[in-house]
Amino acid sequence: MSASVSRREFMAGTLAAAALATFEPARADEPSLRQLAAQKGLLYGCAASSNFLAADAPFAALVAEQAGILVPERELKQYVVQKKEGAWDFSGAEALAAFAAKNGQKFRGHTLVWASALPPWLEQKLGNNPSENLLTDMIARECGRFRGRVHSWDVVNEAVVPGFLHPDGLQTSSPWYQAFGEGYIATAFHAAREADPHALLFYNDYSVEMRESWQGGRRTAILNLLEKLKKQGVPIDGFGVQGHLKPFLEHFDEEIFAAFLRDIAGLGLKIMITELDATDHPGPADPAQRDAAIASLTRRFLDVSLDNPATIGVLTWGLSDRYSWLSMDPSRKWPDGQLSRGLPYDGDLKPKPMREAIAAAFKARKAVGQ
Ligand code: XIL
Repeated sequence: MSASVSRREFMAGTLAAAALATFEPARADEPSLRQLAAQKGLLYGCAASSNFLAADAPFAALVAEQAGILVPERELKQYVVQKKEGAWDFSGAEALAAFAAKNGQKFRGHTLVWASALPPWLEQKLGNNPSENLLTDMIARECGRFRGRVHSWDVVNEAVVPGFLHPDGLQTSSPWYQAFGEGYIATAFHAAREADPHALLFYNDYSVEMRESWQGGRRTAILNLLEKLKKQGVPIDGFGVQGHLKPFLEHFDEEIFAAFLRDIAGLGLKIMITELDATDHPGPADPAQRDAAIASLTRRFLDVSLDNPATIGVLTWGLSDRYSWLSMDPSRKWPDGQLSRGLPYDGDLKPKPMREAIAAAFKARKAVGQ
């Protein structure tokens, strides 16, 4: 690469070329998920990583076609952008933002403040009685860089772990909590609003949709937290339901989830499904049976989600099983090495029943206001 061509420009060029490479578009009578969502005033999109988009042209073309919003799966996490202290690296996120801009897609930020995915130097600093500037400067830097280019930010991710030491179920072992106490959450939202007044600011969390009693504890803790933030006038716009479904391990209950979403909406918050996918391990050996169970649960889950007028969008955590974290994460992957089947497109980029379920849920959604 010549010195006059920055890595950012190089990546943007590579990605643009990838998106133009030969790809069979969806048939005219088969609208894309982004089109189906848009017809109901919704967003559909997915998490992505710049390296896969750059290296895999057919995959990149599918993402360009199907997604109306992109979120970096890893490339805005602290262990990527601040791997070394003071040496900010936004190259991956910028490549994704360029891909999104080129394809008329919105861009989502994930995630500013999370107990996980911290570089060791930052974790150490947080444990050393730091000034609050460590948090606010970080947000000013990261959020400010993308000011005006981001639809929504996951400002704080996964802050509750009920049943442990905190009376309201906050995760006290989080380095952010340890450094600043529970005020870190409000501080983060204020800093994000200041850095980008136009981005929607979200609190994002997992395991809230199932009827398992421990998820009831999570719902209560999250509602308490959100209510408290709203009462304090903290600038928060929405709640992100991660939606990592486990059809062979947990049980869905329409009423329980619908009631939870009503409570969230009752606080004046928007709702997004932010990380939808389905763990198919340990399902039956026959992939068709797993696909059917995943599609059925996806449809039930999305019907409830989209029935709430506060819901503004759905993102899957990836688009194709070819690059799903479910195929790689030790606690979720198939021990025999086969790909998981938890995303709308399979490892050959062919649509699966889960994709049909998402499309059908979008089609069935009442337009807001009806
Ligand atoms: C996951 C990524 O998909 C993996 O590639 C990475 O190794 C770990 O993080 N909840 C979140 C996401 O908010 O950031 C996580 O993403 C999945 C669970």
